[in-house]
Amino acid sequence: MDEVRLRDVVADDVESFFEQQRDPVACKMAAFTADDPNDRANFLALWTGILANNAIIKRTILLDDTLVGNVVFFFQFGMPSVGYWIDRAYWGRGIATRALAEFLTIATERPVYARTAFDNLASQRVLEKCGFVSFDRDVAYAAARGEEIEERIFVLRG
Ligand SMILES: CC(C)(COP(=O)(O)OP(=O)(O)OC[C@H]1O[C@@H](n2cnc3c(N)ncnc32)[C@H](O)[C@@H]1OP(=O)(O)O)[C@@H](O)C(=O)NCCC(=O)NCCS
Repeated sequence: MDEVRLRDVVADDVESFFEQQRDPVACKMAAFTADDPNDRANFLALWTGILANNAIIKRTILLDDTLVGNVVFFFQFGMPSVGYWIDRAYWGRGIATRALAEFLTIATERPVYARTAFDNLASQRVLEKCGFVSFDRDVAYAAARGEEIEERIFVLRG
């Protein structure tokens, strides 16, 4: 079938998100990660806060009935922003693009922003396919790279 669907996040999903976000290849790509992606307690505390915060819109991404990632709307540096993460086993199948496009019909605040590492071309492509355009650049510490790197900021206007 290969159908991408979004559903509300439930607490039991967080363990899968934890496994997905600690993949070293994915961390290197995303760059701006937790200081220690293997710190389970820290990750669970973060998601406990996300689940309790109604200002954060969050959805679990399913491929047919398999949990393959998450997509989130939140405020970063005061800017309405989106972020997403797909299990590496499922990369390159158009899942992030389909999930973000659907999510943007739920998270409707505009403009909405997204930040990617300068070399995270897959994420930049996902954003462009969903209508985002390049907006600005920044430099920030990327824990998964152990150094400051350039960040590209994208915007989706109304
Ligand atoms: C970035 C990420 C979400 C992409 O998920 P995905 O489901 O593989 O994305 P899609 O298949 O929908 O689209 C990926 C696009 O990037 C392109 N792409 C992939 N790798 C690329 C690369 N190295 N250079 C250029 N384009 C690339 C694909 O060809 C595709 O574009 P196309 O449809 O025009 O061919 C996924 O790799 C991920 O979760 N990475 C780790 C977390 C992360 O980086 N999150 C985003 C933080 S800003």
